[in-house]
Amino acid sequence: EQIEKGGYPHFMLKEIYEQPLAIKDTYRGRLLADEGIIKMAGIEDNMKRFLNADRIIIVACGTSWHAGLVAEYIFEDLARIPVEVEYASEFRYRNPVITEKDVVISISQSGETADTLAAIKLAKSKGAFVFGVCNVVGSSIARETDAGAYTHAGPEIGVASTKAFTTQITVLTLIALRLARAKGTMSSSDYRRHLHELELIPEKVAEALKADKHIQAISKLYKDSRNMLYLGRGYNFPVALEGALKLKEISYIHAEGYPAAEMKHGPIALIDENMPVIIIATKKGHYEKVVSNIQEIKARKGKIIGIVTEGDVSVRELADHVIEVPETLENLSPLLTTIPLQLLSYHIAVMLGKNVDQPRNLAKSVTVE
Ligand code: G6P
Repeated sequence: EQIEKGGYPHFMLKEIYEQPLAIKDTYRGRLLADEGIIKMAGIEDNMKRFLNADRIIIVACGTSWHAGLVAEYIFEDLARIPVEVEYASEFRYRNPVITEKDVVISISQSGETADTLAAIKLAKSKGAFVFGVCNVVGSSIARETDAGAYTHAGPEIGVASTKAFTTQITVLTLIALRLARAKGTMSSSDYRRHLHELELIPEKVAEALKADKHIQAISKLYKDSRNMLYLGRGYNFPVALEGALKLKEISYIHAEGYPAAEMKHGPIALIDENMPVIIIATKKGHYEKVVSNIQEIKARKGKIIGIVTEGDVSVRELADHVIEVPETLENLSPLLTTIPLQLLSYHIAVMLGKNVDQPRNLAKSVTVE
């Protein structure tokens, strides 16, 4: 097992550090930035189904559901296709309205999650076209879907999903860009800019990982917290949900993810000097609005940990701590802002002596209902 961990103390840390390579493996052969081409057989072969779709329904569970939420923003923003994101377990039991004109995208690392598999079967029985985004080759979901795309993240052993999440977002971004090009919803220059920026993401993830020691120091200060609040807006709202999930899963600290602007409709009542608030405040995502959210937290003496763009000034003045990530396009930012949140939960769990790779009560793949 020590050999499999490749010198890292835990699989989770190894997998966090594998992300630059995993993302590259995901887009290798698919993203030809210089040529301005995205090549994905599963999309090309079924282009008509995608272009004729009234909407896309995404079904998934857990972290994969969070990747689906990020995809909702990307698909709607770039390809102008309406998207609904559903928990597979809710979708399958609610007598959903599904037609032959729907495209369902199921997202699953393992390809074995029982609820996701059942949701796929239901959608197929109603005539929808089902496209799978899976990591495990030959898994049940990969076999059950009409077509699909693998994430090629390599085996993920840690129960808390890390590289599966960022590679799912990578594949979904490629699909959205390909459809946007086919539909003509993006200008050619904007499309090309996205391709080039996506190509640069692995090195920017590597750059974001360099904050590890700094994040470890911050973790030490907050490891004994009883609650934490994660806030983000737009593309980074699902990242806030995912950050909170990571902390809950492996450190057993209660955490909630919330859209930053919704804070005033509830969570703000919880804020006092004992409440650490992790807030994603990157430059290109409603920045001014998030800064005013930060001011509200500060006025109530909450401890502020800001995830900011390199060189940020305004948040640094207000926050107790900032963690920098490189600059990128707004719709690619989740691939970077997720990294510090993964490291924060990892270090806190290690400091608390928890079983990071196999947290209590959780399974890597939930094959029962
Ligand atoms: C379990 C795992 C999570 C995962 C979820 C969905 O809860 O612990 O890490 O996100 O299942 O799994 P899937 O394999 O379908 O992505």
